[in-house]
Amino acid sequence: MSTNTIDKPRKVTTATLRKMKADGEKIAMLTAYDFGMAQLVDRSGMDVILIGDSATNVMAGNATTLPMTLDEMIYHARCVVRGTTRALTVADMPFGSYQVSVEEAMRSAIRLLKESGVEAVKLEGGREISETIKRLTQAGIPVMGHLGLTPQSVNQLGGYGLRAKGEEEAARLLEDAIALEESGCFAIVLEKIPAALARKVSESLTIPTIGIGAGNGTDGQVLVLNDMLGMNEGFRPKFLRLYAHLAQDIDCALKHYISDVKATEFPSEAESY
Ligand code: KIV
Repeated sequence: MSTNTIDKPRKVTTATLRKMKADGEKIAMLTAYDFGMAQLVDRSGMDVILIGDSATNVMAGNATTLPMTLDEMIYHARCVVRGTTRALTVADMPFGSYQVSVEEAMRSAIRLLKESGVEAVKLEGGREISETIKRLTQAGIPVMGHLGLTPQSVNQLGGYGLRAKGEEEAARLLEDAIALEESGCFAIVLEKIPAALARKVSESLTIPTIGIGAGNGTDGQVLVLNDMLGMNEGFRPKFLRLYAHLAQDIDCALKHYISDVKATEFPSEAESY
């Protein structure tokens, strides 16, 4: 039986994604934060692995993405890169690592690429970060944009609700997307915006869009790995499809282990030396 990995052994690059959009082939992107999961995600045939700053929610239990540091991101990205051979790896630039100045953004991104081996960075924001994107791409650093619900701005946005519902915000988002493409982004994440707007933005750009909570008209989709595997039982937004129920499976396995230990049924003779 052939697998995706055998069908598509070639390394995914930003050029691959551009061609996928031109060919009408959808892009599958997923987050990963550690070596073991990155190996599993990569061998599945995933196109892009995002080391999202959601790492600080999922791995460290923080309520927002704001506490993530550049050193923490470098650590997670390094672990994921070690487990990845085929997928394009993209790391989020953490809050505070690129907003102060273009120079600081350059230093942060260069550290991220040098110290982790990740191939591209993702930044949240619209036209206000155009200059930063231009400088990064001129230095040979591929940049993915991120518009709509931008979690690093949660305090300004006032929550994690749907963005660009009104005409004015929708028009602004489209202009921002065009500005990001003109600045040199190779792709843009569109998070939690109306499906019709996401489709319009996708049709207006030559670079691919990757949606999360943005309907089916984007050029690809992204989800948080732990959420789609059902490891985060308290998180059930409308856009999330569960592909496994790992929290229940793990719960069951752990209870089974405890009961085996208490009943002296583990280890057996075959499991002993
Ligand atoms: O941090 C993250 O996981 C993300 C995705 C939700 C797009 O930015």
